Amino acid sequence: MKFKVIPSHIAVIMDGNGRWAEKQGKKRTEGHRAGATAIDRLLDVALEYKIPAISLYAFSTENWKRPITEVNAIFNLLIEFIDTRLDDIQKKGIRIQHSGNRSKLSKKVLEKIDGAAKATQKNKKIVANFCLNYGGQEEILSGFHRIQAARKESRVPLDKPISPKEFEKYLYTHPLPPVDLLIRTAGEQRVSNFLLWQIAYAEFFFTNTLWPDFGRESLEEALVFFESRKRKFGGLA
Ligand code: IPE
Ligand code: IPE
Ligand code: MG
Repeated sequence: MKFKVIPSHIAVIMDGNGRWAEKQGKKRTEGHRAGATAIDRLLDVALEYKIPAISLYAFSTENWKRPITEVNAIFNLLIEFIDTRLDDIQKKGIRIQHSGNRSKLSKKVLEKIDGAAKATQKNKKIVANFCLNYGGQEEILSGFHRIQAARKESRVPLDKPISPKEFEKYLYTHPLPPVDLLIRTAGEQRVSNFLLWQIAYAEFFFTNTLWPDFGRESLEEALVFFESRKRKFGGLA
């Protein structure tokens, strides 16, 4: 398909892995595994349409509430994802980035995600931003703490107003642009603590498709929707 406008940054709340598995009488882990192959498809179509940045909500700061067996399965799948895809990702020119709080992530997970980010840092085609132990509220608070620490260090008065531009440098997603299009699968219409700062003027696309079933047609449907929106950013169109 041809599109007149392409979003600079798409954020995806990949929801419905558990329901997909349940529908087929499979274990929830099988849903997450199928979800990983949907990421492969999404990245291929994103490359084709030259979508510069994709943020993937893979594990939230609230997902620790799940049974430890499921949490471990998700992280093991992530490690497997990087191990089995890194060469391909490299060949395709995809740059890997991580957004999220590092403190609760295991050494192994950090090693994998940092290794993938380092190995792909020169890639220019698209950025795949994996949001792991990510929460929008935590990101804003941690950004605030870090900006204040930096100001203290350089003796800038701590009560000097902070501009949004300056603050954005302290978000995990830096230097990615604001989100133009937010996609959430599996019929839920909520944000679940994803990229709260970055979605200020995003268009929202909700679909009943479960994440493991998301493919080319689903992304094209979202791009058709995005193209049809009249964006005003608070001004007059
Ligand atoms: C999304 O699928 C993946 C993660 C949260 C890691 P879910 O696991 O939330 O699937 P449902 O919502 O139970 O169907
Ligand atoms: C959001 O999905 C988190 C991810 C996709 C990683 P959840 O399934 O955790 O969200 P809620 O609990 O339904 O809001
Ligand atoms: Mg869910």
